[in-house]
Amino acid sequence: MSITTGDFRSKITASTLLEKKQRQELITCLTAYDYASARLVDEAGIDMVLVGDSLGMVMLGYENTLPVTMQEMLHHTRAVRRGVKHAFLIADMPFASYHVSQREALRNAARFVKDAGAEAVKIEGGEKRARLVERMVEAEIPVVGHIGLTPQSLHAMGGYKVQGKTLKAIEQLMHDALALERAGACCVVLEGIPREVAGMITHELDIPTIGIGAGPECDGQVLVFHDLLGLTFAPPAKFVRRYADLGSVISGAVLAFKEDVKSGGYPSDAESYHLPKETLSSLQTIAERKRAVPL
Ligand code: KIV
Repeated sequence: MSITTGDFRSKITASTLLEKKQRQELITCLTAYDYASARLVDEAGIDMVLVGDSLGMVMLGYENTLPVTMQEMLHHTRAVRRGVKHAFLIADMPFASYHVSQREALRNAARFVKDAGAEAVKIEGGEKRARLVERMVEAEIPVVGHIGLTPQSLHAMGGYKVQGKTLKAIEQLMHDALALERAGACCVVLEGIPREVAGMITHELDIPTIGIGAGPECDGQVLVFHDLLGLTFAPPAKFVRRYADLGSVISGAVLAFKEDVKSGGYPSDAESYHLPKETLSSLQTIAERKRAVPL
């Protein structure tokens, strides 16, 4: 049975995603970090919305995702929740929110569901996170895995590098993916790995794989909202396809506003509020009387 919302589009759930994989229907996912982007993405019919910790860079100006806090993630997830009706809403657990102890990890994961309205949490890491994924699933919290280039392992990886290039690394990635599936993850993000490896993992898993820089054989694709729209400042990664150059559009609009204000061209009379005729004529009469008073 599929639950339909008021405007007759089905609500996407973890089961819908599984069914899509079974029907070989490709899955779409985008990040969103605020109400406006969430509404635009959701109303366009994207299947999954991820409040990624990439918000640290694109929204907050951090150098990487490591400083992002639980408070920041909860704040943005709440805003996105208000804009998403149909898509499956996932919140990224930030660095150190699930690394210290399982108890703390479970409590933090529950906050995303209970306080911010997320339908799943995403955590980075494979086999080593399997027990934690099991515990979260036991606690009724759906989990999205994330393996390959995992940005929170920046220092451990020695930089952002494509992963899974040697036979040993491929074998480990396959173990990671299978361990997450066995632990109960509802899907797995594959980031920054060769397309051939992503293809093998996608073939082996029953749960959907969502690729980013992992080639076209994945069950779905995710991109960062700001990358897709040309709203980032650094040169984009190889896998990013820019569908718009909103950075230039916004700069052009801001410059035009500046010029209009400086030249007195904004606001025009048509963009101004006016007094009702009677009030205006009373005001004019008062002004004329004042002028008529002899000095
Ligand atoms: O933080 C993020 O946006 C992500 C996606 C790129 C998968 O983890």
